[in-house]
Amino acid sequence: MTILVTGGCGFIGSNFVQHMLDRHPGETVINLDKLTYAGNPENLSGIENHPNYHFVKGDICDRNVVESIFKQNKVDAVINFAAESHVDRSIVGSAIFIETNVAGTNVLLDVAREHSVGRYIQISTDEVYGSLGTEGKFTEGSRMHPNSPYAASKAAADLLALAYHHTHGLPVIITRCSNNYGPFQFPEKLIPLMIARALDDKPLPVYGDGLNVRDWLHVKDHCSAIDLILRGGKPGEVYNIGGTNEWKNIDIVRLVLKKLGKPDSLISFVKDRPGHDRRYAIDAAKVNRDLGWRPRISFEKGLDETVEWYQKHESWWRRIVSGEYQQYYRKMYEEK
Ligand code: NAD
Ligand code: DAU
Repeated sequence: MTILVTGGCGFIGSNFVQHMLDRHPGETVINLDKLTYAGNPENLSGIENHPNYHFVKGDICDRNVVESIFKQNKVDAVINFAAESHVDRSIVGSAIFIETNVAGTNVLLDVAREHSVGRYIQISTDEVYGSLGTEGKFTEGSRMHPNSPYAASKAAADLLALAYHHTHGLPVIITRCSNNYGPFQFPEKLIPLMIARALDDKPLPVYGDGLNVRDWLHVKDHCSAIDLILRGGKPGEVYNIGGTNEWKNIDIVRLVLKKLGKPDSLISFVKDRPGHDRRYAIDAAKVNRDLGWRPRISFEKGLDETVEWYQKHESWWRRIVSGEYQQYYRKMYEEK
């Protein structure tokens, strides 16, 4: 099988490419990535010479690039991870989110249809469902109610992908996962941001009252679910993926500080994210029932390993937080 993975130099994509080459070394992975601020080929430096791994630097919005990959290879499946993924950035400016997440998805769907691809997996998010109150969970039947420009762009892409299934018979499957954590996550996202800041004894910016809830899943468990869905999922279906592991932000931040032996006095409550979703929780019963998936990595162990990973890979994240990111951070946090 030859799989076109887009966004394979980002956090989840790079973990997924590694997963594929470990578990299915006989299958070919083509990684199409534009290398935005969030894409880092270093994430895959261990496998760059693997005979079944091919990297193409390019934009999913560029039809010529996507078409040339399909012309040069018999692509059996597309897995679209490529996206602008950070909610805060979408609040500052949404245009690039629409461009990549919606227009880029449209190009992939269209070219995949022309070449009668066997499977098209759209990596979506639980954020398309909006926000929950204190009770209940998102099921695949929950109505879409995206609240941030990021979530709206992902919801638009989901609808487009499902329309390609309905109208053209393209074998599309949508996955909607909850918050991921683990190695290679860009330190703009909650857990790696807090680890990196705490290691430098800098204030940890917690939005609002810190009581917003997220449902955390280790990235490796997300990858194993996508792998199962790629092989056994049903076209036209949506699969929720989640860890049944809800945490208030403030408790996660305190846990990170405890693991690093740093004081709670580093916590700094800052202005809330505009439109901040209060709670996410995923009901992953369908992927468990139909495909036998369940998470394997406990949060306790996964978070310990993640904290250790950031301690051991300081040069990886220090390079990131030293460049353009400095300006972003100042704009996001210090101007509030
Ligand atoms: P990320 O920001 O770490 O990586 C995104 C990758 O896409 C980068 O390598 C970037 O260079 C690439 N990219 C961006 N625009 C591109 C374009 N126009 N053409 C080609 N490549 C492009 O994102 P992530 O956290 O790994 O998320 C991956 C996917 O999973 C996204 O679609 C996101 O919506 C979804 N998702 C993320 C989470 C999470 O917790 N991080 C949870 C559920 C779903
Ligand atoms: O739920 C899946 C989504 O999870 C993915 O679709 C997104 O791509 C991914 O970025 C993530 O979105 P969140 O907005 O939930 O993740 P983030 O790490 O940005 O924030 C997690 C929570 O922590 C959220 O309630 C906001 C809060 N937060 C975040 C940052 C960056 C803070 O309190 N302080 C911060 O500095």
